[in-house]
Formats: sequence, structure tokens, C-alpha cells
Amino acid sequence: MRIDIVSLFPEFVAQVAGHGVVGRARERGLLALHGWNPRDYAEGSYRRVDDRPFGGGPGMVMLVDPLRACLAAARAADAKPAKVIYLTPQGERLTQARVRELARRERLVLLCGRYEGIDERLVAAEVDEELSIGDYILSGGELAAAVVVDAVARLQEGALNDAESAAQDSFEPGASDGPLLLDCPHYTRPVEHPLGAVPPVLLSGNHAGIARWRRQQALGRTWLRRPELVDRKALSEADRQLLDA
Ligand code: ADE
Repeated sequence: MRIDIVSLFPEFVAQVAGHGVVGRARERGLLALHGWNPRDYAEGSYRRVDDRPFGGGPGMVMLVDPLRACLAAARAADAKPAKVIYLTPQGERLTQARVRELARRERLVLLCGRYEGIDERLVAAEVDEELSIGDYILSGGELAAAVVVDAVARLQEGALNDAESAAQDSFEPGASDGPLLLDCPHYTRPVEHPLGAVPPVLLSGNHAGIARWRRQQALGRTWLRRPELVDRKALSEADRQLLDA
């Protein structure tokens, strides 16, 4: 998969791309990341990329032309057609289902705005989709783009060392295709610690019992912390019993 990031801070891309799962996905040739700076496509000695908003008000708005030229260069860098995603709080909320859908694509262009935003004419002409990572305001789209890169990178086939780990995460449906649940608690050594003991079932070697406990914990946590994710009617009879136990 190829991801192009259009941003006034392309060095940020290198930061995101260097570590952990994303870095490994790049090393394994599963993901290629490229940064593009609209300032490199701006005219004049000041290489201006923004201007004051018509109608007044605070902040600056990113100009159409440098972004348009930058996007054209990014698109032309590879023959595969790209879906252009603008990261903005006005966008559709990112979910794991959307991440899975994006991860299947061959190519994405992530457009990061700064200041008050981007001239709407550029958005209307060039953007395929607007995405938000949550109902809060960041000072730019870069962190949101990093979130998208990380979330799609780890879903690339071969990116994770244990192929199981993606499927077992919070929000990934279990083998039974049930509801999207939060993850269960995890423990490692030592068994006894001043802060508490490991739940005995995890030491029992009883695989069915462990699976049942994990499912029960996941259901209970989701019910308590994110009740909107659990539709009781959609639960299997077995899950309803676990939740009520
Ligand atoms: N840019 C600024 N805030 C954002 C958010 N919450 N999601 C995506 N892009 C953003």
C-alpha cells in the first residue's frame, strides 16, 4: 500500500513512519509513505501558502493553488488512482470499520490542513472524503493522518508478528462475528504482586474457561464503559448469559 501525506510539516511523516509496527511494515515493503509540502509548490519569494479569510475572523486559510499543484504532483507520482482524504473535525468519524475499508486500498492521499482550514473550493474539487478522528480540535491534521497511517499499517497482511493480535483487539469482531467489544484485561508475571494477584482462571490451563472469562470481561467492560456499543438484542444467548452472570 502507498500513502502520500500532503502537509506543511512533511518531516512529521518520517517521525510517524520510523517506529514500531509502521516502521516494520515499511521495512517489509508492505507500506510506502511519501511526504509532500505545499510550500514547495507556492509562488513568490515568500512561498505563501495561506491568507486571511474573506468575511473576516481569526486565523488563516490555506490557499487553493499551492495545495492543488502539490496534490497534482502527489497523484502523478504513481499510476495507481488515489483516494484523497482530508483530515478535519468536520469529517465523518473514523471507526475500525472505516479503517478496515481504507486498509484494503492500494493508495491513499492524506491531506492535512493547518490554521483555520482549507479554501472550500479546493476541498470541493479535490477531496473524495473528509475524516475526523474524534470530537475535539487539533491544531492541524498531521496527528489525525498519523492515526490513519498507524491504524491501516497494522492491518496490512504480514505487518503484525502474531497474525492473531489484530483480530483479538478491541473493536474487532470475534470469530463469531458478534458485536464490537472493548478488549479484556491482560496480565503478565509476576503472579503475586503487592498491587494484586492474577485472576486464577488465567493460570488454570483450562482454555475454554479462559476464553469464557475473557469474553465475559470484554462484554462487561463494554457494557459499563461504552453501553452504546452493545445492543442486548443483538447478543447471542450465550453472550447474554455471560453478561448477566
Ligand atoms: N484536524 C483538526 N482536528 C481534527 C480532528 N479531530 N480530526 C481530524 N482532523 C483534525
